[in-house]
Amino acid sequence: MEPEDADTFWRWNNDPDVVHWLQADYPESLAATRRRFADLKPNSYSHALFAIETITGGKLIGCTTLRDATPETARAELDIYIGEKDQWGSGYGTDALRTVCRYGFDAMRLHSIALWVVAENEAAIHVYQKVGFRVDGRHRDAHRGVGRWHDLILMSLLEGELT
Ligand SMILES: CC(C)(COP(=O)(O)OP(=O)(O)OC[C@H]1O[C@@H](n2cnc3c(N)ncnc32)[C@H](O)[C@@H]1OP(=O)(O)O)[C@@H](O)C(=O)NCCC(=O)NCCS
Repeated sequence: MEPEDADTFWRWNNDPDVVHWLQADYPESLAATRRRFADLKPNSYSHALFAIETITGGKLIGCTTLRDATPETARAELDIYIGEKDQWGSGYGTDALRTVCRYGFDAMRLHSIALWVVAENEAAIHVYQKVGFRVDGRHRDAHRGVGRWHDLILMSLLEGELT
């Protein structure tokens, strides 16, 4: 991601459809987002952030992160979202997941990649399972939704399981 991506990122985070199943964070002003993007740390083993772009035109449509990896565990947590919702269902989520997981296993030498997803986020769970993620467990009432609680599903992918 580049400093000039800040406005797009801020717009995604203020789109209720995009953030519907994401963990709510304190709202961030556009100015604060711009400051954060101007000072993005270089990617590292513990935090690697990637932009997702369209194949034709290279338009920024989303981002994905491998975070909190440690050499002792060789395990990272993954976040992904396609912020341009008119691109949902075009195959970019699946493609980006495969690419970032391959990067995690091949370049970062990870052993496992894990993620949390809201149990009702069926599209995301479908995509995760399509690339080989399996359900490890369920954290009951761990996600505060609008007016009710939702379970979070823990999923993981081990090296050699990417399909
Ligand atoms: C989840 C997300 C990353 C998927 O990206 P995407 O580019 O739309 O995914 P793809 O186009 O590669 O694949 C979508 C798949 O979901 C399926 N799908 C769509 N809606 C579905 C639903 N309600 N239930 C089950 N499957 C669904 C599609 O049929 C397609 O599967 P197929 O390729 O086997 O036909 C994207 O929708 C997104 O960013 N959503 C908002 C943020 C989010 O929820 N992030 C994940 C947080 S854990």
